[in-house]
Amino acid sequence: MNTPVYDFLINYAQQDPVRLHMPGHKGRFGAPALQKATALDITEITGADSLFEASGILAESEKNASSLYGTAYTFYSCGGSTLCIQTMLLMMKQQGRRVLAARNVHRAFLNACVLLDIPVQWIYPRKSDGILSGTYDLADFEAALQAQTRPACVYVTSPDYLGRMADIAGLAELCHRYHAKLLVDNAHGAHLAFLPWQCHPIQLGADYCCDSAHKMLSGLTGTAYLHVRSDIDTEPERVRDAMAMFGSTSPSYLMLASLDWCNRELASPLFRKQLEEVLNRIQQLKCRFSPRYCFTDGDPMHLTIDACASDLDGQELAAHLEQHQVFVEYADRYHVVLLFSAASTDFDFETLEKLLENFVPTRVAAEEKFSLPRPETVCGIREAALAPQEIVPVEESIGRICAAVKVPCPPAVPIVLSGERIDRDCIAVCRGYGIAEISVVQ
Ligand SMILES: Cc1ncc(COP(=O)(O)O)c(C=O)c1O
Repeated sequence: MNTPVYDFLINYAQQDPVRLHMPGHKGRFGAPALQKATALDITEITGADSLFEASGILAESEKNASSLYGTAYTFYSCGGSTLCIQTMLLMMKQQGRRVLAARNVHRAFLNACVLLDIPVQWIYPRKSDGILSGTYDLADFEAALQAQTRPACVYVTSPDYLGRMADIAGLAELCHRYHAKLLVDNAHGAHLAFLPWQCHPIQLGADYCCDSAHKMLSGLTGTAYLHVRSDIDTEPERVRDAMAMFGSTSPSYLMLASLDWCNRELASPLFRKQLEEVLNRIQQLKCRFSPRYCFTDGDPMHLTIDACASDLDGQELAAHLEQHQVFVEYADRYHVVLLFSAASTDFDFETLEKLLENFVPTRVAAEEKFSLPRPETVCGIREAALAPQEIVPVEESIGRICAAVKVPCPPAVPIVLSGERIDRDCIAVCRGYGIAEISVVQ
């Protein structure tokens, strides 16, 4: 697959031109270790196209991505999935759609709701696995859709932070029966389109989804895709305009070139082979260490250890790994999340396996995981987030209205949202996650 953006940057740098344009480093100044990157770091000069009005090399590269993902349109983001989520929600607002969302959303979604003044109708899991994950029932989505008097959309996070996947095919069928759109936060699942079976949200019928290219592929940090499944859904110009509302007017060409190069990697048979090899290694590891370690189900590239079920403390296991230079994606007392990609090596697996083998737990496992609290909604997310606020100790916050969009749980899934009344359950969960203070409406 061709790489028009990457090639343009290489050609430009090789010509050693006089750069009378931004950036000010002129391809020369800058940190020594970043010199090679600096030479390729340009702005929208002639021939370089322009992301939010793409019609040249960027449009060509996005078309390549679209053909790889089987979408009607794929758009590049240099603002991560965060920008894609803002864009999807703005389009839903422009279409006058009500937003129904599965509760374990990332804070990027909540911030977008504050910015766009979007009220959310929450769908709670029937069974939650800590606050990060849960099992939802299609019947709850159906009941919420049935009750709507105006057009709606359903927003879900899949894979979630633990790697658990929602029933996207079921949700898509349901949404389409009720003329609703299905939006998927697939920030953790850009690789899913390349697994040997169909499991990417677009393949399963989602209307829009975002994939971070930096989480599971080789895109530079901050790169993402916004996918649109069908060309009857929207015109590409509308998506670009919506994206431009939130995105920087100077998207990084280094990031764009990394997305461009990703296409080439994803299109190569070697990539699928490497992915399959890593999948097999993960399976072997799971077989070898079960039942000593209990692994949660879901995306096969997430190796998530259920610390409680494994009778260990997740933070102690993570500390053991880190002492030996193995760094995890996330750990709390209840879970340890280890992420692999096609770039993972035999050495990575061998090192991990040795450390899992010789780990001797000394701390007791957490007794039970928290369920997602269901606090009462008192006012809108935006109203509370933009109100005068004060920070109080969590222990003294009972009955107060939460103002923070971000209750600082590390993976950014909300314990309590701005506009909700803090109750005993919320305080217990905050305590469990070591959160000492919380922002409340004054
Ligand atoms: C589930 C989920 N959605 C969205 C985001 C935001 O993605 P990005 O960092 O690419 O903006 C994250 C980031 O961690 C995430 O975990």
